[in-house]
Amino acid sequence: MSETKYEYPQVKYTRLTFPPAQMQQRAQEFYAWMDTRRTVREFLPDPIPEGVLEHILLAASTAPSGAHKQPWSFCVVTNPDLKRQIREAAEKEEYESYNGRMPQDWLDDLAPLGTDWRKPFLETAPALIVVFRRAYEEVNGRKKNNYYVNESVGLACGFLLAAIHHAGLGALTHTPSPMNFLSSLLNRPENERPFLLIPVGYVPENCLVPDLKRKTLDDICFIYK
Ligand SMILES: Cc1cc2nc3c(=O)[nH]c(=O)nc-3n(C[C@H](O)[C@H](O)[C@H](O)COP(=O)(O)O)c2cc1C
Repeated sequence: MSETKYEYPQVKYTRLTFPPAQMQQRAQEFYAWMDTRRTVREFLPDPIPEGVLEHILLAASTAPSGAHKQPWSFCVVTNPDLKRQIREAAEKEEYESYNGRMPQDWLDDLAPLGTDWRKPFLETAPALIVVFRRAYEEVNGRKKNNYYVNESVGLACGFLLAAIHHAGLGALTHTPSPMNFLSSLLNRPENERPFLLIPVGYVPENCLVPDLKRKTLDDICFIYK
């Protein structure tokens, strides 16, 4: 039998498992916790304690990625002047989008959320996490494509939002469109493309969110026995 050669040495997997009742409890508790996550559009200006965002980003970067390329960069913007420039550029694009660029169906779907072109949270939130996807890497002067970049970065952003929630902070998944202005304002290299703009911070005590209903299990799950 030929031996398989691995580039990485093999290490023992840290295996965690639980008896069925405990497993059920853990699954239910995790769902109940995740179900309390909401997108918020208001933030307190209070700074985030030192080290918190770093661990949130490390948690995001534990996400699986195509061929383990981890094709993401996270820029953390706390500089007030830069936040103002990002707000101004985002509002300029969003004004155009809400006033002619978005088709009526899209505007109709957004109407119940009450969003518009104004984005004050881009300045009030103490930190903006700007996520970039890395389309390729430059290796020895040669362009090497990354694989499943959107899927990988999407997963990392899911982990990121869960980590933010777990830390007791709030976030908004924001997608000003188009958002090329983020590449120039943050002076990002040619291989990076903006993916999401995520204001993060403490949530005001009386913050309101739309009373959305999530799909039921029957709506989303199809079992093949
Ligand atoms: C890819 C993506 C883009 C989004 N873009 C925006 C946005 O630009 N502005 C905004 O206010 N909310 C945005 N949202 C937030 C959604 O409106 C929100 O997730 C949805 O209404 C469900 O609410 P929940 O996150 O509280 O469950 C976005 C969410 C996703 C996943």
